[in-house]
Amino acid sequence: MMPVVAGEEEPKKSKPSVRKRADAIKPYICKNLIAVIEAPSDIKNIGTVIRNVNALGCEKVYVVDPRNALPDDWQEMREKPSLSKTSVSAVKWSFVKRFDSTDDCFNQLEENNFHSVVTSPHVKGETNIWLHEGDFTEHTKLAVWFGNEKRGISERAVERSDACVAIPMFGMIESLNLATSSGIVLYEVTKQRRGYQSKYKKGRKRGKRTEPLPTVMDREESQQ
Ligand SMILES: C[S@@+](CC[C@H](N)C(=O)[O-])C[C@H]1O[C@@H](n2cnc3c(N)ncnc32)[C@H](O)[C@@H]1O
Repeated sequence: MMPVVAGEEEPKKSKPSVRKRADAIKPYICKNLIAVIEAPSDIKNIGTVIRNVNALGCEKVYVVDPRNALPDDWQEMREKPSLSKTSVSAVKWSFVKRFDSTDDCFNQLEENNFHSVVTSPHVKGETNIWLHEGDFTEHTKLAVWFGNEKRGISERAVERSDACVAIPMFGMIESLNLATSSGIVLYEVTKQRRGYQSKYKKGRKRGKRTEPLPTVMDREESQQ
């Protein structure tokens, strides 16, 4: 596969090679893992988070979108040029859903038994953990929340979450960029959850597998 640099488009693939790739990545996608972006103001960040979600094998993206910047319809979302461009077409391959408010999004997550954690460079709420010390396999269904570029994560999201996760910071600046932090956090979370999925079966036949599944693709297969 040709590498893609900023501003470039994904090289077009034939239908059979798209199908082949879709089948090859399926076992590596982290089931029941949703990244939530709360009230993002920059479409480039939304696109980059979708790209990170797709690349790292996270199942879905929810966007709390009080400004109504995104269409409700998924098909329209996939065809939105600004999202397609900034996500390097990842929006075409990722499930993205918008919500009017933080509470609407939590209501849907909780109805479906999802636990949530928020992310922030700051100490928020009662339980605060470093990214590298967290166990992100504890709950079968997990939503990981990222906050607004200026305001960060809202008090309401902190209140309705189990914990606040921080990437340790060693520089003079307060925080990482929203999209960058999504890449770092989701790398750790998907790595842990893929490891877990590889060892344990889900559904009615729950239990430990006799042989763990691979957690990374063969290098040659992953280039196709
Ligand atoms: C640019 S930051 C927001 C900065 C804002 N002033 C604040 O108080 O959080 C945007 C989002 O990126 C994520 N983020 C940035 N740096 C982070 C860090 N060190 N640890 C965890 N999340 C971080 C959080 O989700 C944050 O809400």
